[in-house]
Amino acid sequence: MPTLNWIGKEQIINHHNDVPFRVLERKYTFGEIGNEKLGIRNVDDSGDQISNSSFQFSNSKIIHGDNLEALKALLPEYEGRIKCIYIDPPYNTGNENWVYNDNVNSPKIRKWLGQVVGKESEDLSRHDKWLCMMYPRLVLLQKLLSDDGAIFISIDDNEQANLKLICDEIFGGNNFVGIITWESTTQPTNVGNAKFNLQKKAEFVFLYKNGKKQFLVDILDDVSKKYPHNGKLGKCRFEIIEKSDAGGYNRETMKFPILGKLPRSGKRWQIGRETADELVLNNRIEIVDGIVKRAIYPEDEIDKNKYVPFWSHFTSKIGTALSGKDDLNKIMEKAVGFDTVKPVSLIEELISHFPKSSIILDSFAGSGTTAHAVLNLNKSDGGNRKFILVEMEDYAETITAERVKRVIDGYGDTEGTGGSFDFYELGEPVFDADGNLNETIATEKIREYIWYSEIRNEKLGIRNEDDCDSQISNSSFQISNSQYFLGKYLGTAYYFYYEKDQITTLDKVFLNTITQRAEQYVIYADNCLLSAEFMQANHIIFKKIPRDIKKL
Ligand SMILES: C[S@@+](CC[C@H](N)C(=O)[O-])C[C@H]1O[C@@H](n2cnc3c(N)ncnc32)[C@H](O)[C@@H]1O
Repeated sequence: MPTLNWIGKEQIINHHNDVPFRVLERKYTFGEIGNEKLGIRNVDDSGDQISNSSFQFSNSKIIHGDNLEALKALLPEYEGRIKCIYIDPPYNTGNENWVYNDNVNSPKIRKWLGQVVGKESEDLSRHDKWLCMMYPRLVLLQKLLSDDGAIFISIDDNEQANLKLICDEIFGGNNFVGIITWESTTQPTNVGNAKFNLQKKAEFVFLYKNGKKQFLVDILDDVSKKYPHNGKLGKCRFEIIEKSDAGGYNRETMKFPILGKLPRSGKRWQIGRETADELVLNNRIEIVDGIVKRAIYPEDEIDKNKYVPFWSHFTSKIGTALSGKDDLNKIMEKAVGFDTVKPVSLIEELISHFPKSSIILDSFAGSGTTAHAVLNLNKSDGGNRKFILVEMEDYAETITAERVKRVIDGYGDTEGTGGSFDFYELGEPVFDADGNLNETIATEKIREYIWYSEIRNEKLGIRNEDDCDSQISNSSFQISNSQYFLGKYLGTAYYFYYEKDQITTLDKVFLNTITQRAEQYVIYADNCLLSAEFMQANHIIFKKIPRDIKKL
């Protein structure tokens, strides 16, 4: 596979490992949770709400901070859990006159490049810098994607070729699904020079899936209205060809909904063994003795008979950068100076192909269009999608979050969508420069980190979280009653016996305080006085603080 080289690549390729793990500091929650309308509920309003177990978090997040650190901070809780990522990174046009950083010359990114790439950063071209900026962020995004997830990346002519090569490297060339084009303007601009006068109308959205799984879509109820010719593109007939021992071929025809390369109506499409295996893997077909016996449709896809094709081209009917900007200004009741706002309907269209309970992540949030699209979709189909947005600039609060608040509450004649989010700032790193626990951060945050880093490996291996005999059925961190008990997962009880200003010792006195019975115990403490034999006989694993705390 061809790979791309650029100045700074060597320093950047494993940089995601060196990014410090920071805690996320929740500043307030906005919106409606359950039946409770919160308006803005500041953390300070009711003291330390993290220990107030009756307080509910929204689970949608807007994070103010550099996405490199924010994505790292999301890893413990979200690794392998994000179904859909949409990002709209700087296109690197060299245009510095916008509110948006459309290049990598923003002071924050220049400073970061200087620190990471070092002296060589002075020689970096505009393209080298962009690649250095994007690479580690894409690596972290890939880690956050679920097996059946996918990422959309908006881009234009300036960096599309470089982006394709690094995405092939990070997501795998096999996972490249295709490039979607959308007509971002009705007034073509001249991107060539005077001689060629190339009139440009479209931008690109790259689509990569994750892992090997078939890329499948949810069904929208109103699909027939949206796509009147959908009937013809419904289920397709497939023929599974199996070479028999006698040298002939076993053939079986089946109907199967598939996206992308749709055969012409009435035509058969032959699929190979590998595809058939994938379909089996996804529970879509059953093969008995090499023959396809039946097609199985997941319950929510049965009887709808309609499947939304994934269009690879959108005309300006879906909205343009200009209409996106006008909509934003209308919501904000003033011109906010953003020139390249994505139209909400474009993002709605992209994310509508994922289950209604998906978590949708946008780490280059800008004006928050992705959250707007998620809220609109939830309102229209009763879905429970969550969004996570990251924005580096200070307008994360004044524009990004402000827009989302107005969408939730309603603006002008537009009714509110309802919904909620938590607003976060990036907090202190969990570890200090010597690798010790940072004692300035709240113990609860350290406990949260330990919990997620402990169960993440288990969690990554277990897709069906109902399988765990844990009190934490959705694997989210729960505030426990016991001071040192973190939680129980797959028969193992986890304890974090830690005090900021005293040495803790795992001994029989501590064991007597344990109330949770489990098959196995993992106990963190500064010291241990139990013998190896005793621990083995009682299924106890001692982990030394800070030596044995996993660094993500
Ligand atoms: C092209 S805009 C996104 C526009 C957005 N899709 C919309 O519809 O409004 C890119 C955004 O990414 C933000 N950004 C750039 N680098 C970032 C970083 N390292 N971390 C977080 N945000 C970043 C910029 O400040 C800018 O707001």
